[in-house]
Amino acid sequence: MPASLRLFTPDAQYADDGTIERRTAGADVVFDIFRERTADKLPRDLLAAADGIVIWHEMAIDDAFVQLIPRCRIVVRAGVGFDHIDLRATGAAGIPVCNTPDYGTSEVADHAIALMLALGRALLTYHKELTSDPVGNFVTRFDAGHTPLVRRMRGRVFGVVGLGRIGIAAALRAKAFGMEVIAYDPYAVAGIEIATGVRRVASLEALLAESDVVSIHCPLTDETRNMLGAPQFEAMKDDAILINTARGGIVDVPALVAAIEAGSIGGAGIDVLPVEPPRPDDAIVAAYGNLEGSRLDGRLILTPHSAWSSPESAADARRLAVETAMLYLRDGRLRNLVNGEHLATRRG
Ligand code: NAI
Repeated sequence: MPASLRLFTPDAQYADDGTIERRTAGADVVFDIFRERTADKLPRDLLAAADGIVIWHEMAIDDAFVQLIPRCRIVVRAGVGFDHIDLRATGAAGIPVCNTPDYGTSEVADHAIALMLALGRALLTYHKELTSDPVGNFVTRFDAGHTPLVRRMRGRVFGVVGLGRIGIAAALRAKAFGMEVIAYDPYAVAGIEIATGVRRVASLEALLAESDVVSIHCPLTDETRNMLGAPQFEAMKDDAILINTARGGIVDVPALVAAIEAGSIGGAGIDVLPVEPPRPDDAIVAAYGNLEGSRLDGRLILTPHSAWSSPESAADARRLAVETAMLYLRDGRLRNLVNGEHLATRRG
């Protein structure tokens, strides 16, 4: 009888003992499940025995980590973004890296639109007014005033940066609100704009100049890191809203806070930060902790990297990631490979 296959998860984002994972993989697969953020907390012998790694977003896979997994034949990211995985180091070791791009597309697109509407329809302002003093405020503030960003959405321009799966889903939602959608994506296939009925622009600058809402849906790469900073905020409309549900590192957050305070842009809805959770001295923490009475009040909304989240999407991510690992370990079939350009040969 062949030895059991072993899967290892260093940073599980579920509370149970891998019920979905075990059901998906089959009874003969052994799972080692941990909830750590740094590799030094993980048992070396179990890492060394792993045939596959299913990783979430809290543990980096760098060169040092790759040295700890000599037997591993596949790394699967239970999620979309893989900027915390060293594609070169894994590829050089002959380990394919695959992601799970099809689990939370609709949730993230919904969330981007929800952030836009929360600001543009002033939900937070009204909620705060009416909850802070339920008796008094129902008398004195039961009106539509005191809202900095309320506007008609119909006819406004929704600018998508990154017309991939989530960008397209967000674009289609924005169209349903009567918005005109434009998109900047230097790598999307020609004709995607025809298929989706959006207008493609040739540069980020062109998109920023025209958009009333800029929604970011590209990956974090060397090219996109800090792609939106002070010069870009300066180039945006004074009342524009920035939505970031992609990756925190794409936006220079201190510059964003400064731009809203200075009136260079209208406001922002942010689900992702460069460091998560943020440090106490990060600009956005200080700003968010002191919203009351500041210019940011009603102009800045922060959510805790929750755009992907729903019970359904979490279950899909868990099942799909393990399916991807087993498809390769049992049948040698790769799906959703993301480090192909660094993968000369594969570990046997
Ligand atoms: P995707 O790969 O389908 O689409 C990304 C698009 O960005 C592609 O069309 C690509 O050509 C484009 N792109 C690449 N470089 C670009 C650049 N320099 N400028 C403009 N566009 C560029 O990915 P998908 O599924 O749409 O996900 C997008 C991102 O959303 C992921 O990379 C991930 O980081 C983030 N995400 C965030 C979640 C959350 O909970 N906040 C959950 C899931 C994904």
